[in-house]
Amino acid sequence: MGARRYGALGIAADDAQARARVRAENWNCFGASTALFCYLDRDMSTPQWADSGMFLQTVMLLLRAEGLHSCTQIAWAEYHHTVNELISPPNERMLFCGMSVGYANPASTHPSIPRAPLTETVTFLE
Ligand SMILES: Cc1cc2nc3c(=O)[nH]c(=O)nc-3n(C[C@H](O)[C@H](O)[C@H](O)COP(=O)(O)O)c2cc1C
Repeated sequence: MGARRYGALGIAADDAQARARVRAENWNCFGASTALFCYLDRDMSTPQWADSGMFLQTVMLLLRAEGLHSCTQIAWAEYHHTVNELISPPNERMLFCGMSVGYANPASTHPSIPRAPLTETVTFLE
């Protein structure tokens, strides 16, 4: 994922400064107007983490239906203390993932990340 992402932006694997610049855009929510923070109950066990991913994807699909775009941001989980200072969640909740939400800038020339071909991700058994 990292190689595809930074490769699409023309950033070399060893260009730590350029990678850090792109990563820092997370803290600006990539210019989006809205940030969503998804918290989980601490007593959820690992199978329920899959439910959370599906929940976030459903939110993202519903956003598309409303003409909005989004970017899931697991990066926010690293700074959960800082986010918690803003959100003040109850103790039994932990930050799972963030998400930037907004309208795509039609003037943006930001390159898309290439998709892996179907044959790379799916095995069809005959
Ligand atoms: C669970 C999850 C967490 C992600 N976390 C981040 C993140 O913290 N920062 C980031 O820039 N992209 C993150 N990504 C990638 C973007 O959300 C997005 O999928 C990627 O930029 C590809 O965009 P596209 O699907 O529109 O091509 C994450 C993706 C997923 C599925």
